This record gives sequence, C-alpha cells and structure tokens, in this order.
Amino acid sequence: MLSRSLQSLLGLSLSLSLVEAAQIPFIAPHETSTSAVPFAGLENQSDNWDINVSPNENATGHLIFETVSSFMQHWPNTRYRNGHNIVPGIVPVGTVLYHGRGDSNTPTGPEWLATDPEHSYIFCRGQASTGCWQLTVTALRPLNVLYLDGSGAAKMPDGPMDSQDVLAFGEIIPEKYIAERERIKNMCQWAKDFPVDGFVRMEMDFEIMLCDFSDGVQVEPINLRSRGNSGGPDSEFYPPGPHPYDDTSFAQLDINSSALPNTGFEVIHSGSWHRYYPGDTRIQLDLTRLISFYDTELVPSLVAERLGKDRLKHRLLGISQEDLQNAVKRIEEATTATEPGSGIDWKTLIQLVIKRFENRLEMVQYILNSTSPGNSNIQIQLVAMLRPYMLSTTKPTQDLASTEWVSPMFKLCATTYTKYITANPSLHSRLTASEELILGGVHETTREICRVVTGMWVDGVMAGLDPDLYKPSTTEGLVETEIESLLASWKERISSLMKWLDWSVWLKCRPACGFEELCELPMWPFRRGTDEFEDPQPKCIRRMAPFDSSWV
Ligand SMILES: *[C@@H]1O[C@H](CO)[C@@H](O)[C@H](O)[C@H]1NC(C)=O
Ligand SMILES: *[C@@H]1O[C@H](CO)[C@@H](O)[C@H](O)[C@H]1NC(C)=O
Ligand SMILES: *[C@@H]1O[C@H](CO)[C@@H](O)[C@H](O)[C@H]1NC(C)=O
Ligand SMILES: *[C@@H]1O[C@H](CO)[C@@H](O)[C@H](O)[C@H]1NC(C)=O
Repeated sequence: MLSRSLQSLLGLSLSLSLVEAAQIPFIAPHETSTSAVPFAGLENQSDNWDINVSPNENATGHLIFETVSSFMQHWPNTRYRNGHNIVPGIVPVGTVLYHGRGDSNTPTGPEWLATDPEHSYIFCRGQASTGCWQLTVTALRPLNVLYLDGSGAAKMPDGPMDSQDVLAFGEIIPEKYIAERERIKNMCQWAKDFPVDGFVRMEMDFEIMLCDFSDGVQVEPINLRSRGNSGGPDSEFYPPGPHPYDDTSFAQLDINSSALPNTGFEVIHSGSWHRYYPGDTRIQLDLTRLISFYDTELVPSLVAERLGKDRLKHRLLGISQEDLQNAVKRIEEATTATEPGSGIDWKTLIQLVIKRFENRLEMVQYILNSTSPGNSNIQIQLVAMLRPYMLSTTKPTQDLASTEWVSPMFKLCATTYTKYITANPSLHSRLTASEELILGGVHETTREICRVVTGMWVDGVMAGLDPDLYKPSTTEGLVETEIESLLASWKERISSLMKWLDWSVWLKCRPACGFEELCELPMWPFRRGTDEFEDPQPKCIRRMAPFDSSWV
C-alpha cells in the first residue's frame, strides 16, 4: 500500500527504460536512415529532445566519432582491423624511418618502411659473418601520405585490406589478401597522378608504403649485427607465395636466446608505444579532408550490408561500384584540396568528450556491478555528469508521467560542444564536408550519452533519490523490489550505452597486468587459433625474459 503511487510512477518510467534497453529503433523526426545531408536537422531540433527517442539502427555517427578518435593509435585499430577511413596527412621533415633487407641497395621501386627499427629488424637479413642491412630513410621534405585506419597490413582475407583494394584494384578482392607486391605497385601507380608519396597502415606497428626512394628522402644503408643466419640477399621484401611469417614461428624468433631480445616480441613492444591517444604523432593527419566509408551519404550501399552485424564484421565488401567510384573520386579530390576548413581542433574536442564521460560511465557500471550497489552513490555520479547542464529550472512538473521537463537540460548537454558552430552561419559555412561529417559524429555521440544519462537520472529523481527536486508521496522510501527494478534498468541502460559507444579505453586487462607484463590483444600474425581473431580480447603476456613460449 505504502508504495502504490511510487510503484505506478516507477513502473511507467521503467517501462520506458526497457523500451530503450531493447534498442527498438525510433526514427527521430529530423533523422532519416541515410539522410541526404548528415544531421541536416541540427539547427532545428526543437522537437527532437525527447529522451525516449533512441538512435536510428543505421546511424553511424558514433562509429565516425570512435574511429576518428582512434586514428594512429595501435590499440583500437588492433581490435577493429577493418579500416573505414582514409585520411591525407604528412610525415614531417626529419622523420627517420627504417627498411630492413638483405643488401645495401636503395630500392628502385616502392617498398615498405617501418616507423620503428624493432619492426624493420625482422627483415634485416644476412649471415652471422656478414651482418644484415638496414636502410635509414629520412624525410627531407614533408612527405604526403594517405593514412588507412584499421590494421591494413594484417594479411587477412576478411576485411583489413578492403580499403586498400579500393585504390589498388578498384574493387574488393579478398583472395588478393596476400598479393602485397601487386598491391603496393598498383597503389603507387595510382598515386603517380596525385601529390601522394606513400600510404600509412598498421600491423604489429605502423608502417609506410613509400613509392619513390629517390624523391624527398635521404637513404643511408647500415650494416647491422645479424641475429643469426637469417637468410641471404633478397631484394624482395615479401617473396611470392604464402607470407613467410604467417605462422607462429615468427613469434618464436630468438625466444630462447640467452643474449638476444625476443625479436618477435620487440615489434609488439614498439607498437605498444603508440597504443593510446595521441598515438604515433610522426604522421600528422588533416581531418578536414578525411573520407569515411561510414559516411552513409557517400556510401549508402554499405548501410544494408552492416545491418544486424556486429561491428567486428563491418567491412567494405558489398559496396556498390557507384559508391566505390564516388569514394575514389573524393579521395582524389582530397589529395589536392586547398579549402582551409574551419580551424576547429576536432582531435582535442573529441578527446574532451571522451575524457568527460569515460571514467564516470565506467564508475557507474562498476557500482552497479557490485553485489549491493548504493543507489544514491549512482545518483551522485549521474548528477556529476549532468551538473554543467542542470538548469535552475530543471524540475519535475505536475505531469509526473511526462519527461518533457528535462528536455532543456538534455539539449544543453548534447549540444554544448557544437552549438556555437550551428549558431554561427559564417563559421558553419567554412566546414569542409569531412568536418561536417565529424560534427555529425560528435553530435550524435553526445546526444546519446546525454539522453541515457539524463533518463537514468530522471528515474532516480522519480524514485525519490533527490528529495529537493521531488518527494514521492510516501516517506518510507522504496520497497526492495522497486529498488531492484531500478538497479536492473540502470544496469541495462549503462551497459547498452557503453556497448554502443564502444570506446577502446574500456578494453583493458582486468585485473591490470604486473610490471613484468604487457596487456596485449591478439594480432596478426600471432595466434593460438584462428578463433582468437574473431573477437580479440586482451590478456597479459610477459614483456621480459623468460618469455611465455605460449604468448602467440
Ligand atoms: C523548424 O521547425 C519548425 C517546426 O517543425 C518549423 O515551423 C520551422 O520553419 C523550422 N525552422 C527552420 C529554420 O527550418
Ligand atoms: C625453447 O625452449 C623450450 C624449453 O627448452 C623448448 O620446448 C622450445 O621448443 C624452445 N623453443 C624454440 C622456438 O626453440
Ligand atoms: C536501416 O537500413 C535498412 C537497409 O537500408 C532499411 O531497410 C531499414 O529500414 C533501415 N532502418 C531504419 C530504422 O531506418
Ligand atoms: C561490469 O560487469 C560486466 C559484465 O560482467 C563487465 O563486462 C564490465 O567490464 C564490468 N564493468 C566494470 C566497470 O567493472
């Protein structure tokens, strides 16, 4: 009896939550599945601030936000190998790069350069008596590159090479996953018509496919101590046939040596230095010219391909020929584009959003994971996230069934990082198409965070957790079952939000690794079984001797 009114109240609010938790697609009034102009309704969302309207199932703004936030970082691009973005950038003057080989010759055609010598050393080949060769290659002018995100150097047939195939073959050819020589030749052939010196991609570490060693770089051969009899002179970086390192023996290189580092592990080690934001800053990207295959306006044909698929399975296979040609045209235009753009520092803006919510969302989930979560403790965290947007007028109205009273707070929260753009036509008009896409990603991401957090907070308020704002008619508080449903609903909503955002900062070894260990994700070519690549999960491996012989 005591909780009758509360029950009905809470029941109503919770049933809305369950609808959200099930992610039933609502179509927002100003959003269409593959909107002609992304977020065209940004200026006019007067009727779009209903916290019960969840994102469209085909929306990609959060994926654009997450991939852009992960550029040039090893960790997120190891988990999501299938790249969806191509971004022009430069390698600044003085950047030193490395090329391991079996002789001292300067390549006459395109070749691969490692960003770290730990990586090129695998390819430093020679007898113990003669040593092996490493070319130190230094940029004498800014090198123009195209960065392909994901793990574009992971020689796998199920997606990592897709975005290169677009340029190399004009179609996606999964069987060519191993055709590295043909790929680099074709891509450099394409690059001849544009100001592009090479391509940046990633495997255990970042690498650059450089098209012309006689233009813009200084090459110095160095005769290094060889790690043993590691093959003779061989001008081919990748010999024809199956990739020589596509097996576990690579990881075992020097694993039992008492005097030498474990060569395989050291590549992983160097890659780990560029793991988190800002990643490898030796390659400086120009976000005002990025092209994304998550752009549903540019590439509508992939919307149906992705429908219902886990993000790990997103790829470019299935793209229509028309969309592919339009994308190539945009990439070609981007290489010569001179529009200065708005000047907005998108990288910092995106990181700011991540920082503000990353550990608070995780904290709420952590409290809800405990066996007896304190519900006021959760409400405190929700208020901490919302306080900068909590207006003095934000209070429940007489109509207890309506959540309209939180709309102004929701809107302020969701638009705080972007509304100065849409409110200033002269600034807004300076945004390039790529910036417009990023803006949409930021907007969609912050909108959903604010929507879910606001919704959770409202349920806490209506449950009487913030008595200054609302006192339920009973003073005896919630009964056990009501607390349980509130906690269950909160848990469901925080988890589905975090799953939707899918920020790589939350992917970590639990418990954290010890000093002698490194938290690592399975990555090509290291694997215990192919199933490990299905959904790469972090684990601790030893980073100093004795190395685990089972770390692959
Ligand atoms: C915004 O939406 C309202 C209601 O749908 C409409 O009356 C108004 O003309 C729109 N304003 C603009 C600038 O599009
Ligand atoms: C390393 O040593 C262990 C133990 O002696 C042995 O079982 C293993 O085969 C060795 N691994 C390699 C790659 O030589
Ligand atoms: C999502 O895209 C698919 C494929 O184009 C379409 O059939 C579906 O209606 C879209 N869903 C929504 C909610 O717009
Ligand atoms: C909460 O539990 C879920 C499910 O076991 C887990 O995936 C998640 O990492 C946990 N979150 C925190 C912050 O401990």
